[in-house]
Amino acid sequence: MASKRVLLIIGGGIAAYKCLELARRLGERGIGVRAVMTKAAQAFITPLSVGAITRERVFTDLFSLEEERDIGHIRLSREADLVVVAPATADLLAKMAGGHADDLASAVLLATDKPVLAAPAMNPRMWQHPATRRNVSQLKADGVHFVGPNVGEMAEPDEAGPGRMAEPLEIAAEIEELLEGRRSHPLRRRADPVRRADRSEFGQRRPLEGRHVLVTSGPTYEPIDPVRYIANRSSGRQGHAIAAAAARAGARVTLVSGPVALPQPAGVTVLKVETANEMLAAALGALPADIAICAAAVADWRVAQAATAKIKKAGSGAPKLTLVENPDILKRLAAGGKDRPVLVIGFAAETENVVQQAKRKLKAKGCDWIVANDVSAASGVMGGERNQVHLVTPQGVESWPEMDKSAVAERLIARAAERLAQRAADA
Ligand code: C5P
Repeated sequence: MASKRVLLIIGGGIAAYKCLELARRLGERGIGVRAVMTKAAQAFITPLSVGAITRERVFTDLFSLEEERDIGHIRLSREADLVVVAPATADLLAKMAGGHADDLASAVLLATDKPVLAAPAMNPRMWQHPATRRNVSQLKADGVHFVGPNVGEMAEPDEAGPGRMAEPLEIAAEIEELLEGRRSHPLRRRADPVRRADRSEFGQRRPLEGRHVLVTSGPTYEPIDPVRYIANRSSGRQGHAIAAAAARAGARVTLVSGPVALPQPAGVTVLKVETANEMLAAALGALPADIAICAAAVADWRVAQAATAKIKKAGSGAPKLTLVENPDILKRLAAGGKDRPVLVIGFAAETENVVQQAKRKLKAKGCDWIVANDVSAASGVMGGERNQVHLVTPQGVESWPEMDKSAVAERLIARAAERLAQRAADA
């Protein structure tokens, strides 16, 4: 990625400060950054601080003789591999959708022949306004890529909803994906057959360095007798991808896995189990952990008394199986006590009312986040390579586009790393 370059257009919003972090993250990944700042952006951060991080001249003025002679807005727009707009304010999106060119940022965006990624940030009402909706649809139809906005608290008190700019690590992951040509036109993405390679998404700096991440994955097998068992269709793909992503992010990872037909992810300690009780014991034994992610499809019930010898077909008909409830590992980890991980994340695989069920589950399980997905037969998620999930937190619901399970994993780990960093900063 060493030779790749990004033109970062910084818009005028409070989230502009996150661009300093974004520029730093891109620098760590060996991606060159040249910045353009709108006039409004300079009310939030200075060209001096941006230039100090990008180690390049920062461009601000369309009508500067000096800047035009030096490089010119056309060259500026062409010399990058990717143009990133962050924060993409409502005004900047409107200008882009309308094809305006009355300042350097909009002129560059109109002149560029390179892919464009926008990271919107604005008040939730502005994001939901029909004008912004129209502009975003138009831009998507024009081929502009989007990352975020996320749901959450705004800078203004009592304003929450969709509008927070995506976190720098999330934007950096999208940028890497685009620079590697792994993203197609945003409206054709579902048909994109290209799979993400197994690579380090987190560049040289590993945001979970020094952290311990516990992941449960796969189904459980609950014996009926020595040859028969109760199980489910979970392949373990999503949980294993999460463990792999956490390891790439620098964490020490313990993966407690039910029976799966998958290779062990690199750099991960795998504890193989069969039953829910074994999974619980292994998970508790692995504590303390900073993050616990329960992606296993644990069987809800087990046979009260598994037979020690094979149950014979008798003339008297089918045997009666008495089922008892299995322990809820997620609930147990979330209840915690002193060993409770800082962040406990569960999954909710549902076939209907996905988000509603997930919200209920968030409360019932006492966990911090729920990743909800539709596992109806039509979705093809069970055992498949791709997933479309909703991240349900006490702050709201984020619906992520359909992507590979490895991309879901990486995004989830990036979010979890940000959350941990936030918690550490608040403490
Ligand atoms: O209750 P339900 O099975 O739908 O909840 C799903 C979430 O709870 C998943 O994160 C799953 O890993 C976890 N779970 C668990 N132990 C159970 C049942 C579910 O950890 N016995």
